[in-house]
Amino acid sequence: MILGIGVDICQNNRINVELSQRILNELEFEFYNNLKLDARKTEYLSGRFACKEAIIKAFSQADKEVYMRDIIILNDDLNRPQLIKPNFTNLKVSISLSHEKDYSIGFAIVESLD
Ligand SMILES: CC(C)(COP(=O)(O)OP(=O)(O)OC[C@H]1O[C@@H](n2cnc3c(N)ncnc32)[C@H](O)[C@@H]1OP(=O)(O)O)[C@@H](O)C(=O)NCCC(=O)NCCS
Repeated sequence: MILGIGVDICQNNRINVELSQRILNELEFEFYNNLKLDARKTEYLSGRFACKEAIIKAFSQADKEVYMRDIIILNDDLNRPQLIKPNFTNLKVSISLSHEKDYSIGFAIVESLD
């Protein structure tokens, strides 16, 4: 059963390096730091921000409070974003994100596995 959904859109030029400390967990920050191109860094940050806001909204609808830096999103071998944390028993979270030149968008669904 779906408990919550969330979506968020972020204007890429609202994102800056200072914000990265508030958006990214240490593991994500390591990946971000290794990105070479500024444009790629911006879209990565903006995409993470939008996706995390979407996750916060979806969890909120499922009566769970989560904070941005406690959320860890890492991409798998096929570059698919995976929510690593938080990891609640009996909840499944599906996420997706996309970026264009000016905007990034994130989407999340929280489902009960009971
Ligand atoms: C995977 C694919 C859909 C990504 O689309 P895109 O327009 O390049 O990129 P978007 O900005 O929309 O999305 C990028 C994000 O999607 C996610 N993503 C990448 N590959 C993914 C995959 N296989 N599955 C799910 N999510 C994926 C990542 O989170 C990525 O952002 P991040 O690297 O910052 O985390 C695209 O690369 C692809 O393979 N398309 C198929 C094209 C095709 O078959 N064309 C045939 C003729 S037109």
